[in-house]
Amino acid sequence: MGKFMSRQLLVWSLSLSLCLLVSPSAAQLKQNFYANTCRDVESIVRNAVKAKFQQTFVTVPATIRLFFHDCFVQGCDASVIVASSGGNTAEKDHPDNLSLAGDGFDTVIKAKAAVDAVPSCKNKVSCADILALATRDVIALSGGPSYAVELGRLDGLSSTSASVNGKLPQPSFNLNQLNSLFAANGLTQTDMIALSAAHTVGFSHCSRFANRIYNFSPGNKVDPTINKTYVGQLKSMCPKKVDPNIAIDMDPNTPRQFDNMYYKNLQQGLGLFTSDQTLFTDTRSRPTVDAWATSSSAFQKAFVTAITKLGRVGVKTGGNGNIRRDCSAFN
Ligand code: HEM
Ligand SMILES: *[C@@H]1O[C@H](CO)[C@@H](O)[C@H](O)[C@H]1NC(C)=O
Ligand SMILES: *[C@@H]1O[C@H](CO)[C@@H](O)[C@H](O)[C@H]1NC(C)=O
Repeated sequence: MGKFMSRQLLVWSLSLSLCLLVSPSAAQLKQNFYANTCRDVESIVRNAVKAKFQQTFVTVPATIRLFFHDCFVQGCDASVIVASSGGNTAEKDHPDNLSLAGDGFDTVIKAKAAVDAVPSCKNKVSCADILALATRDVIALSGGPSYAVELGRLDGLSSTSASVNGKLPQPSFNLNQLNSLFAANGLTQTDMIALSAAHTVGFSHCSRFANRIYNFSPGNKVDPTINKTYVGQLKSMCPKKVDPNIAIDMDPNTPRQFDNMYYKNLQQGLGLFTSDQTLFTDTRSRPTVDAWATSSSAFQKAFVTAITKLGRVGVKTGGNGNIRRDCSAFN
């Protein structure tokens, strides 16, 4: 009996320490993290996000992309929201901020103000957690799946433009490049395909895909994997000397619905970037695209798994972070 017990204990403590080794910070995230400090944080954030959403739909793509960018650059620590000051150029001013729309920043600032307006919640909830909650809320508001969000992230203590280099995927990426960048963040090919469906909402500037319709390769002016009808539409929306501020819908069919149209589009050659269309062109990822084009529920399940994993990337705890009073400035 004694021997059995101690064996159990050994197995248990071994697996516990293994857990701690594999994901030191993720272990600290949990749902209802603020149950004793700011009980209503979820509804406070949801109401603020909803008010912002009613003002402009851009709230949806801008917030989702901000979360992705934040998590991939230095972990989900709201460092992307910090504004440049003095001699320091912050993450958000790197050219690869990929033209993050101001409405994502504004959503977090507004939700933070709503949280801090409740005396018991003041300076108790991190900007990183508010961004994670706001992302869940905009996805649900635009027809996507709703899911429980793990909380307990701290806000990061640094934000530099240099830290962005090489951390974000480029629209020209092929499957191997996408897989290796996502793997560096603990995400699988399946997670990557699921998260890419965020391109079912939002906009892109013409420059991000112009090469696919004007000068693809020495032998082919146009990328042979794009739908011919779509090429014509893209050329009329994005003529060669287009205003660089023009941005077009990434999902030509249901641009305001967070749905599985993204995968149906890929099947018809309607993926906007090389990184989108390659998910269908490459036979290693095509079966997943086909499965999720057919089953919205299978897609939603995979998406929730993937975005939950994304939310655990590089989370700050203990002395590595704090709760910022103003999301756009260090305390
Ligand atoms: C797989 C590799 C990815 C690449 C190469 C990529 C690249 C891009 C590019 C080039 C744009 C257009 C930016 C512009 O011109 O303004 C864009 C927009 C966007 N991306 Fe991605 N992205 C990727 C994955 C993701 C993921 C994982 C998410 C979120 C889960 C995401 C969310 C978005 C959203 C929502 C927009 C629209 C932004 C807006 O309308 O303001 N992307 N992406
Ligand atoms: C992103 O970077 C560009 C230049 O690199 C800058 O003009 C723009 O204001 C930045 N966007 C945001 C939202 O900070
Ligand atoms: C091209 O897109 C149109 C819809 O815009 C679709 O009807 C057609 O089947 C697509 N062609 C191919 C080859 O997928």
